[in-house]
Order: sequence, then structure tokens, then C-alpha cells
Amino acid sequence: MSDPTQPQPRRLDAWRLAIRVVAMPADTNAYGDIFGGWIMSQADVAGSTIAIEAAQGRVATVAVKEFRFVTPVLVGDLTELHARMVHIGNTSISVEVDVWAQGEPDPKSRRHAAHAVFVYVAVDAQGRPRPIPRPESQLV
Ligand SMILES: CC(C)(COP(=O)(O)OP(=O)(O)OC[C@H]1O[C@@H](n2cnc3c(N)ncnc32)[C@H](O)[C@@H]1OP(=O)(O)O)[C@@H](O)C(=O)NCCC(=O)NCCS
Repeated sequence: MSDPTQPQPRRLDAWRLAIRVVAMPADTNAYGDIFGGWIMSQADVAGSTIAIEAAQGRVATVAVKEFRFVTPVLVGDLTELHARMVHIGNTSISVEVDVWAQGEPDPKSRRHAAHAVFVYVAVDAQGRPRPIPRPESQLV
């Protein structure tokens, strides 16, 4: 088993678990399902974890190229967000995010809840685009 106290060397273009969170009643819409805006927010944060690592610093979300809600997320669902880098540009990083939800304690209820592609831009301290450092291991 890997040691969680040590950095894990992994390719950014491989799927990785970015967030694991229980959907709470405070995050519902008027009909009692989990609000799509909450899911989008979690997906943006999940994608940014990959972008920040690729950019080795600050990033800003510049675009959401795709967002599809596949099945509803329900209150109490254990919600997992997996992310992987799909492209590195000069200053931008595109990240694919998949959202999975399951009612606890029922692993058979696990289902694909949403899919998204975000584009982040590496920015400097003034918020201006900056080139992304590109070691060979990050090339996609
Ligand atoms: C992000 C920001 C710094 C980019 O500045 P900019 O002057 O527009 O940057 P550019 O036009 O040079 O584009 C930068 C990169 O983003 C990409 N990009 C810009 N708009 C895009 C879009 N709609 N879709 C995909 N990529 C896009 C460009 O292709 C470029 O990529 P590359 O360098 O890898 O080729 C600026 O737009 C900004 O501050 N936006 C607000 C960000 C924000 O508040 N986000 C929400 C909170 S994080």
C-alpha cells in the first residue's frame, strides 16, 4: 500500500480521485435533488487540483467546454470526482472530470452522475497568463 504521507509520483493524464464528499441537504435545489451548481463547483475544484499541479502554481478557470448531468445526485450520496489532464497548451491546461455518486451503504447504487471538461490558464501573481513548465513526464 502507498504511504499517504509521501508525494505520489503519477502522470497527470491518468484518472485520479480528486474529491470524495457526501452531498448534504444544504446543497439541494427547490425539488430536493442536489443542485447542479454545487456539482459544477465541486467539479471545478476537482479539475483545478490537476491544473495547479501541471502549472506548478496559480491557475484561473477560463472555460467550461462541456458539462453533462447524467443522473441526479441525491442527498446523502457519497460523491466522488475523478479528474485527468487531457491537453496542455502554452498557458492552458484542459482537464476532464467524471462525477460518480452512490447511496451509502450500497455500492451497487454507484452511478455516473456527470461529466465535464474545464480549461484552466496558468497565471502569474498579477493574474496574467504565463507559460506552463513542461517536463517530459507531463507531455500529452
Ligand atoms: C484566464 C485569463 C487570465 C486569460 O487571459 P487572456 O488574456 O484571456 O488569455 P489568452 O487569450 O492569451 O488565452 C490564454 C489561454 O487560454 C485559452 N483560452 C482562452 N479562452 C478559451 C476558451 N473559451 N476555451 C478554451 N481555451 C481558451 C487560450 O487558447 C490560451 O491557451 P494556450 O496559451 O494554451 O494556447 C483571463 O481571461 C481571466 O482573468 N479571466 C477570468 C478568470 C476567472 O475569473 N475565472 C473564474 C475564477 S478562477
